Amino acid sequence: MIFLSPGTLSPYPSLHLLPKTLANYRKTNPRTSISCHKSEYRTERGLEFDIGDSFFRHESATGRDLGVLAAALYKKSIGNLRVLDAMCGCGIRSLRYLVEAEADFVLANDANDYYRRVILSNLLQVSRGFGDERRWILTHSDANRVMTECYLHRDYFDLIDVDSFGSESTFLRSAFSALKLGGLLYITSTDGYTSGGHRPDHSLASYGAYVRPMPYSNEVGLRMLIGGAVREASVLGYHVIPLFSYYSYHGPVFRVMLQFNRGKLPKSRHYGLISYCTQCGNSQAFSWHELGRINCPCNNAHVSGSLIVSGPLWTGPLHNATYVTEMLNLAEQRGWTGNGIGMDLEKLLKLMIDESDPELPFGYIKLDEVLVKLCLIMLLLLEFNSYFIIKLEFCDRLH
Ligand SMILES: C[S@@+](CC[C@H](N)C(=O)[O-])C[C@H]1O[C@@H](n2cnc3c(N)ncnc32)[C@H](O)[C@@H]1O
Repeated sequence: MIFLSPGTLSPYPSLHLLPKTLANYRKTNPRTSISCHKSEYRTERGLEFDIGDSFFRHESATGRDLGVLAAALYKKSIGNLRVLDAMCGCGIRSLRYLVEAEADFVLANDANDYYRRVILSNLLQVSRGFGDERRWILTHSDANRVMTECYLHRDYFDLIDVDSFGSESTFLRSAFSALKLGGLLYITSTDGYTSGGHRPDHSLASYGAYVRPMPYSNEVGLRMLIGGAVREASVLGYHVIPLFSYYSYHGPVFRVMLQFNRGKLPKSRHYGLISYCTQCGNSQAFSWHELGRINCPCNNAHVSGSLIVSGPLWTGPLHNATYVTEMLNLAEQRGWTGNGIGMDLEKLLKLMIDESDPELPFGYIKLDEVLVKLCLIMLLLLEFNSYFIIKLEFCDRLH
């Protein structure tokens, strides 16, 4: 679902960006200078901003917190941070990257130029600067076009944030092209219907994965999104690994922060098929060379009709424990943990650390299934015990 006012995507000539000088970034559209908007102010982590008529979800604040923490860690370790906020809405992310992650430069873009006044009013809280000291710039164009032009002008970014709708994946390639090696790509999918396995042809087209209904569709959605990025990066001779993955029920929203590096993933590692057995609830990963030999141990190693198979998906850890621990430390230093919404962030980051264990199996076992299994074991034990007691009594009688 795309929320754009008619004609906002295409009425402009290309941006013709000059490398680093940014001289020709589009500035104003005369139409917006006569448009008026209502103001509606919100506060996030102490920053006040106007959302006007733009698309804004306060529930996404945690997703923005996570992006800012990653950006701040990057700035701390590399010393420089250039951010491309490709679908900026009212510009709150761009503002937070500038203020809270101390980004040296932010290119804020939203195709909808009707938001221009709102975005400007928010970004003007940070002095714009001039020439090489320029802190931010605002454009209104299609995200793919902006990123492709950055690539063409060798204007690379440390962090690219694409907060898109639905299962839009066309931007993956242009984003990788405009990203520095070692840089971060923060991507989103909001298509719970597809990750739930209800449109396998659609997930195949968008992420290259045939996704079927599985009980842990939230996890599958994240693995589908990462898998799609892994595939797209490998086309270009690169690989990505997830630093953290975040599912949020509102939307639903699947968000992943990926680190981008040179070289393909070693031999399709962590990229394969995942099966779920409807008979015993077991889940397993299968690699390509196991195709045709997919079975579940509950079925005596025969090819089983009870198996649902989805993929290829990302089969590795969803988070990097060391990285998320650094995020948690930074959140604590900033006082973002320990109270109100902060408590949620703390809980979330700790959960991610726990989930980072590479030995963890996919999915989960439902509590009622665990209880059924426990009851079965207890019944077996009782049966065994009573058999043993009868046997003892019988032996007693013999002697
Ligand atoms: C989910 S909203 C962004 C919200 C914002 N990032 C935030 O955190 O509040 C997605 C935005 O993308 C814009 N958009 C949709 N399609 C686009 C495209 N192809 N190129 C650039 N912007 C686009 C919409 O106008 C909308 O403002």
